[in-house]
Amino acid sequence: MDFMPALDVLRARVPFVPELAIVLGSGLGELAHCAEAKAGVSLPFTELPGFPKQTVLGHSGRVVFCELEGRKVLLQAGRFHFYEGNPMSLVTAPMRLYGRLGVKAVLHTNAAGAVNAGFKVGDLMVLSDHINLQGTNPLIGPNLEPGLRFIDMTEAYEGNLRRQLHAAAKATNQVLREGVYLAVTGPSFESPAEIRAFRTMGADAVGMSTVPEVIVARHEGMKVAGVSCLCNMAAGILPQPLTHQEVLEAGAAAAQRFEALVRAFVRDLTL
Ligand code: HPA
Repeated sequence: MDFMPALDVLRARVPFVPELAIVLGSGLGELAHCAEAKAGVSLPFTELPGFPKQTVLGHSGRVVFCELEGRKVLLQAGRFHFYEGNPMSLVTAPMRLYGRLGVKAVLHTNAAGAVNAGFKVGDLMVLSDHINLQGTNPLIGPNLEPGLRFIDMTEAYEGNLRRQLHAAAKATNQVLREGVYLAVTGPSFESPAEIRAFRTMGADAVGMSTVPEVIVARHEGMKVAGVSCLCNMAAGILPQPLTHQEVLEAGAAAAQRFEALVRAFVRDLTL
């Protein structure tokens, strides 16, 4: 997918260049319905050339430009998953757009399964690093300048932003875990043997998104932070099958804490 036509439309319609883009993961999309978002400028992806006109689920998401805690931000509700059959160029197109708009940093959020058995359902976890097991890389193909061909991933999740997330957790009186997010393609959940293998590899959480977007956000030169809502214990930890329903319910239950964390983070953000 070529993001350039979408970039032209976006440039013509943005009310301002946001300091921070926040990608809202499944179950965490409530923030896009807050009063500030309602007063902002909303742009469905369907109105951007090159983006799918509709998806199987009927909605492909939108971006909202608004002021949150006195700061100019962009909220992205919904994302394009690889498991939906989308090419990586579409999965990561929002990051290309934000990077070229001049957005300086992205906070990625998602729902994930807890691989670390010491974590609990409902815990929020700052991403310290990731393991890409999606079997591909979104940068495969001609290099898009001015990004480097071989981009460093040493500190993909910036230490300074991680510290600010922990400070926001303290300010809102909540426990915030930190750990490694491992990305699979899905859409099947993992087998218990896979989860045991992932734990040995150093994973604390597992999910089906975020890593391609983080890689491209770094390629675009944006700073990156990530927060997972641990919506279920990963396969084999508890003696019960996994369902998408429990993931959504745990996300909804964590929504208020999540919103408080994000608001405190945004309010005191220094880039
Ligand atoms: N595995 C993969 N992705 C997920 C999970 C999980 O257990 N929970 C939420 N997203």
